[in-house]
Amino acid sequence: MSFKVPRGTQDILPGQSEKWQQIEGVIRELCRVYRYQEIRTPMFESTELFQRGVGDTTDIVQKEMYTFEDRGGRSLTLRPEGTAAVVRSYVEHKMFGQPDQPVKLSYMGPMFRYERQQAGRYRQFVQFGVEAIGSADPAIDAEVMALAMDIYSTMGLKDLKLVINSLGDKETRNAHREALIQHFEPSIGEFCSDCQKRLEKNPLRILDCKVDRDHPLMATAPALTDYLTDFSAEYFTKVKMYLDTLGIPYEVDPNLVRGLDYYNHTAFEIMSTASGFGAITTLCGGGRYNGLVEDIGGPDMPGIGFALSIERLLLALEAEGISLEVSNGLDIFVVAMGDEAKVKAVELLSSFRAKGISAEMDYIDRKMKAQMKAADRNGAKFVIVLGETEIAEAAVNVKEMESGNQEKVAFHNLVNYLLEHK
Ligand code: HAM
Repeated sequence: MSFKVPRGTQDILPGQSEKWQQIEGVIRELCRVYRYQEIRTPMFESTELFQRGVGDTTDIVQKEMYTFEDRGGRSLTLRPEGTAAVVRSYVEHKMFGQPDQPVKLSYMGPMFRYERQQAGRYRQFVQFGVEAIGSADPAIDAEVMALAMDIYSTMGLKDLKLVINSLGDKETRNAHREALIQHFEPSIGEFCSDCQKRLEKNPLRILDCKVDRDHPLMATAPALTDYLTDFSAEYFTKVKMYLDTLGIPYEVDPNLVRGLDYYNHTAFEIMSTASGFGAITTLCGGGRYNGLVEDIGGPDMPGIGFALSIERLLLALEAEGISLEVSNGLDIFVVAMGDEAKVKAVELLSSFRAKGISAEMDYIDRKMKAQMKAADRNGAKFVIVLGETEIAEAAVNVKEMESGNQEKVAFHNLVNYLLEHK
């Protein structure tokens, strides 16, 4: 019997995890600068939250959720995304009552979707996301997009495309919905069974269908942008004006609809344009969700946010040939020969570590040569060899591995010596 990671998941091993930490560091620093405070919500929520929040007719809710019943008979779901839970928390903790709106939150953690496995698509993936809840100012839409772009450019990515669209307000969408129904209804029999269901429930979803993508009626479908109300059109103009002010290039794509139901007004995605990037080029997606706070039981507060996965960010880095420095260098390896030396080594290691000096020793009784090799493999900057003589003299030769230089240092001076030279 051999065990493997579940399909669509992966182990992130040493060597790789340092890259994740580096990315996480960049993200945390940018959140500090943009002032998006971290929120941590549970890994599972009531199933109904996602049905209501993400939307009953979405692929996520219909096909991709990991839903289970707990021993108390409650239906729970591993979170497929972060927005619904963050909004739930905003409402539950009455953050709408705080004097400073919007409340700007960020999160990073695993999300779960039962999707067909392919490059860039996992069943467990780590999303970083932000939500700014409590403002309907188009300047915050631009801020959120700026933060997403900043993350990628700080990581060194260049081949990026920001695509934006306006999904309008309720009035816009009702008018567009009617137009879509009229457009598709006469030929709906030629579409997949999902689309047939979508026609009445949410015809906008038809435009997002992967099965009927090439049906000729798709290309001629009425564009939402033609139905924008004056308010929506003006809002969109202001968002674009702020992006221009920030010097962020973008493309407007009237066909960008996004796969979740809560969006209105601004919708955006960031794509990688790097050659060699796989079929799935979307690195990040987000948009405005005025109305969601109310749907989840709170007051009428507007919101906007985005999420990106670290997995796709790593793929984009790879596609652009950007390699992250993995630095987990070791300051000192202590080679110990004999029982007494071993005890001294344990003591020294502890004093080094207490001062932030990374230190390692042998725990499998290797011969001196093998211990030296281990020091080398671990990238140790210094090595000391403890034997009877060193113990007797209470001093040891500190060898710098790269130069081969040695200097005799008394035990009681070792910490200071290493702090000065590491
Ligand atoms: P989403 O478009 O479903 O939006 O996902 C956002 C990002 O998560 C994608 O652009 C992609 O980077 C990543 N992602 C999604 N599914 C997978 C997967 N199976 N494997 C790897 N990466 C994946 C949302 O989740 C919204 N909650 C975003 C949002 C926040 N909108 C407003 N606020």
